[in-house]
Amino acid sequence: MQKVAVIGAGQMGSGITQVVAQAGIPVLLSDVDLALAEKAKDRIAKALARLVEKEKIPAAAADAAVALITPVADYAPMADAELIIEAATEREEIKRRIFESAGKVLAANAIMASNTSSIPITRMAAASPDPARFVGLHFFNPVPVMQLIEVIPGLATSADTVTRMRAFAETLGKQVVQSEDEAGFVVNRILVPMLNEAAFVLGAGTASVADIDKGCRLGLNHPMGPLQLADFIGLDTCLEICRVLFHSTGDPKYRPAPLLVKYVEAGWLGRKTGRGFYDYAGAEPVPTR
Ligand code: CAA
Repeated sequence: MQKVAVIGAGQMGSGITQVVAQAGIPVLLSDVDLALAEKAKDRIAKALARLVEKEKIPAAAADAAVALITPVADYAPMADAELIIEAATEREEIKRRIFESAGKVLAANAIMASNTSSIPITRMAAASPDPARFVGLHFFNPVPVMQLIEVIPGLATSADTVTRMRAFAETLGKQVVQSEDEAGFVVNRILVPMLNEAAFVLGAGTASVADIDKGCRLGLNHPMGPLQLADFIGLDTCLEICRVLFHSTGDPKYRPAPLLVKYVEAGWLGRKTGRGFYDYAGAEPVPTR
């Protein structure tokens, strides 16, 4: 792969940019404005510096990766990218607008991928210039740590596009699970109902935040409890995925927990806002219930 472009410089877009650059591939990074993309590059440089401090990578490798990242103000420089990865907010209208605009510069034979967690690929492909070259490429958070990428072909995605995305994942040192284009794909279809259920359990007063998480950590050997993980992912993202599962299947088992809805309405979105099921103001997260 000669060049990759990433649209969306949040948690996921930054992580994707970091692993692409660490694989030695030049990467363009954009967000709604240049300043946000530049800030994301600074954060990535800090994350790489921490890896150097911990003696995980040599300083030269960190410098080389940082040098491969170019923040850009708009999509025009993406005309020579072989792959454009959209990692914007999990809202369909925002993503469709991106596919339409970035689609105008997409090179012949280049691939457009979405890091959506749950929105149907086939439907979004319709907003791209060539659905045969549109695919779901779903990374997991934190991207530099998690080994998995889900590859999701839409109805019109070509076999060549899938083959190239499998090869790209291998270049990044990741493993692939291929999923049909069904809401939530494989992992979120299983994970998000569990996180939602934890919010139901909390809302019913069955146990405290600390005990729900402790139960799953110690009883299931999960690295994080479900409420801690929901905070880590972002409660708005969890709710959005829940709603996609609920509306696309029509199955009431996916209805969002009222407490999850309330937290999102309060702007308590988890770690990124400093409060969710835990309060992150101090040195250690404090359970809120
Ligand atoms: N970026 C890079 N590296 C990171 C990192 C980050 N943001 N956070 C942690 N790490 C690295 C650390 O450097 C450390 O590396 P070494 O073992 O090589 O030293 C390793 O991860 C473990 O980190 P810590 O010791 O600091 O902390 P931990 O042991 O508690 O692990 C964790 C942190 C990896 C996040 C772990 O708690 C975990 O695996 N949690 C579950 C994460 C998960 O389920 N992610 C999927 C979310 S679902 C999703 O993403 C899909 C979606 O669409 C919603």
